[in-house]
Amino acid sequence: MKRISTGQLEPGMRVDEDVTNLDHQLIIKKGTVLTDAIITKLNLYGILTVYIDEKYKATPEKIPTQSYYERVRESKEFKEFKKEYDAEVDSFKFHLNNVVERNATIDVKEMLAVPLKLILEAKGRVGVLDMLSNMREYDDSTFNHCLNVALICNVFATWLKMDEKEVEMATACGLFHDIGKLLIPKEIVTKPGALTDAEYMEIKRHPEEGYRLLLDNHVDKHICNAALMHHERCDGGGYPLRLKDKYIDGYAKMVAIADVYDAMTSARVYRGPLCPFKVIEIFESEGLQRYDVNFVLTFLENICNTYIQNKCRLSDGREGQIIFINKYSLSRPIVQCGSEYVDLSQEPNSIFIESLL
Ligand SMILES: [Fe+2]
Ligand SMILES: [Fe+2]
Repeated sequence: MKRISTGQLEPGMRVDEDVTNLDHQLIIKKGTVLTDAIITKLNLYGILTVYIDEKYKATPEKIPTQSYYERVRESKEFKEFKKEYDAEVDSFKFHLNNVVERNATIDVKEMLAVPLKLILEAKGRVGVLDMLSNMREYDDSTFNHCLNVALICNVFATWLKMDEKEVEMATACGLFHDIGKLLIPKEIVTKPGALTDAEYMEIKRHPEEGYRLLLDNHVDKHICNAALMHHERCDGGGYPLRLKDKYIDGYAKMVAIADVYDAMTSARVYRGPLCPFKVIEIFESEGLQRYDVNFVLTFLENICNTYIQNKCRLSDGREGQIIFINKYSLSRPIVQCGSEYVDLSQEPNSIFIESLL
């Protein structure tokens, strides 16, 4: 038995001890063989280290081909978007550093120009969300993450049919949500490998730190609230205040979903971005009641709908086309394989969409 940090886990390793969260709730059982989705889940629950059975060797899981994402990456649109994104993230970084290190005042309007420009230029191209999934392959900085969450919130707000002012507010809430991380010692935020309990507690201070900084700058209250409350969960299981549903700012609820989504879809070195249907499955298995139900369903439904008619490969090797999204089981749509219609909601759990083609 060997204890290793969550960042070093790979699919195919076997867990040698039950994994529980800080509240001692079981997350995965001893003996579970890890998959991408499980590793992502462990990260989301903030699990730092896991005991694995070093003698166990699973037959190497074939790494699913990422041809869908390869296509996105190779498209002209993506290359242009990436160029603009890289330039904009630099300017955002410059502004934010001025605020944190040189006490410059926060000019929300000016800083909001960055994501709004990107969105405007990306309109009508390959989905912004798909492009973002390909963006963070090697760069996990707080700046990239904040910009991503801002862009996701922007798209999300239009799905919620918000008006222009509200769409801008949601974008701003995403943009500043993790600003508090810049006030936590860099060594901790960027530390590779496992964090100590004390370091983990330190990172968990970022919502309050961000809130205070934004409040000092007399920024709109929703932006302050989103920084403070984006780790709260509707069932009261979040932090720092363990607020329940009705006490959480609506914009913070949106940011919470966009934040988790960005963390899940970010690419890792040993694989491309997680298949969107797996992401949805993780949301479903984690419990949709942790989020605002209307928000999370709108978000996931819209993501699913993007992939109608997309080709996909199932876990049993069959290939087909996604033809119908089941509202009651979003991660398990109906797939047409040749002349056969496979309703995944009726199939055993071992059959799922493994990758998009
Ligand atoms: Fe955060
Ligand atoms: Fe975040």
